[in-house]
Amino acid sequence: MNPPLVVETKSDGCADLAAVLDRCVDKTRRNLPDLVAKPASWSRDPRGEYPAWDEAFLSIHNWTTSFFTGMGALAFQRTGDPWFLGQLEKLLPIYDEKIGQCADETMHDLGFLYSLYSVALFKLSGERRHRQSGLNAAAVLADRFVPQGQYIRAWGRVDERDTEYAGLAIIDSLMNMPLLYWASAESGDPKFREIAIKHTDTTLRHFVRADASVFHAFRFDLVTGEPAGGDNYGGHSIESQWARGTAWAMYGFVLAFSHTKNRRYLDASVVLTERFLGLLDEELVPVWDFRLEQGNDPVRDSSAAAIAVCAIQELEALGWATGVMGEYKRALIERLCRADYFDRDPACRGILRNGQVGTRQGEARNAYTSWGDYFLMQALAREIGLEVSWW
Ligand code: GLY
Repeated sequence: MNPPLVVETKSDGCADLAAVLDRCVDKTRRNLPDLVAKPASWSRDPRGEYPAWDEAFLSIHNWTTSFFTGMGALAFQRTGDPWFLGQLEKLLPIYDEKIGQCADETMHDLGFLYSLYSVALFKLSGERRHRQSGLNAAAVLADRFVPQGQYIRAWGRVDERDTEYAGLAIIDSLMNMPLLYWASAESGDPKFREIAIKHTDTTLRHFVRADASVFHAFRFDLVTGEPAGGDNYGGHSIESQWARGTAWAMYGFVLAFSHTKNRRYLDASVVLTERFLGLLDEELVPVWDFRLEQGNDPVRDSSAAAIAVCAIQELEALGWATGVMGEYKRALIERLCRADYFDRDPACRGILRNGQVGTRQGEARNAYTSWGDYFLMQALAREIGLEVSWW
């Protein structure tokens, strides 16, 4: 028997998605003041107690704070309550510090961080200080572009070459490209967009395999830029198929298509999406890696499911989702809204249970994840017709 839905069902037996979204709004109302009082990455936690994740906002490893600011933006969209924008405004000085005095201590996820903060707040409030922050962040991100190899370096200070991260690009980076498209549209400078297109072309060429799976990471020779081969930090192994990495690619490529109208990006997103959906079993929420060897714990990754829903919604919005994709989208949302995934307890900060966090030894364990919470909330918001304009 299926676990119960977290809210009353409607007469057609479906979850009332607006009511589920309102539970996310309630948790956001609780979380934001604590994050604002002590900004940190709040990345993930087995109990959903995000402040226990002890990583400073200014840490070079922080890629996650803005999933909470993004939830604040969604909560504002849902409620119209200016309190949410007021809370978010208070974070502007530290966001500026990160790409000002601390700009060297950053990595490629400036896209996640500033699309879901500066771009979102500029779009919602018209406040030009956020526009300037977003443009400054895009400039720091663009400086990570490596002309030999034509990719954006993922991790580590960009001036450090004596590290395994030099010469490394990762699939997740596709989600950071919308900041660059936005920066070109906003500033009139084509440089950002050109870099995004070059990075996306490189990703298409080297990461996507013939069987519609993707490498998590790929290395390039530091001097010549020649491709050196696939690598892995997120999934089970180099040749495996990390579910969340696939979901990043599904969503990242369709967003690239929405900005460029390049059909090759659309085709990549469609093929990866069809393959991803074809690999789902009765549980619907994917095992964290589709190519686990026997004996590995088949931990599920709810965050990959939430990201995949957002990818399908984008394909739908652009008119390219098939009927089957639409059916999977509805089924996945419904699945994530059942009590074994959706945590309705107001005392718990986390929303979505059973996100996967890798160990870099190719293992996985479960946690509430800030990105899973965000993408589920975004999916719910979009499903009831709210606009999400910051990608
Ligand atoms: N972008 C890092 C992750 O998906 O775990």
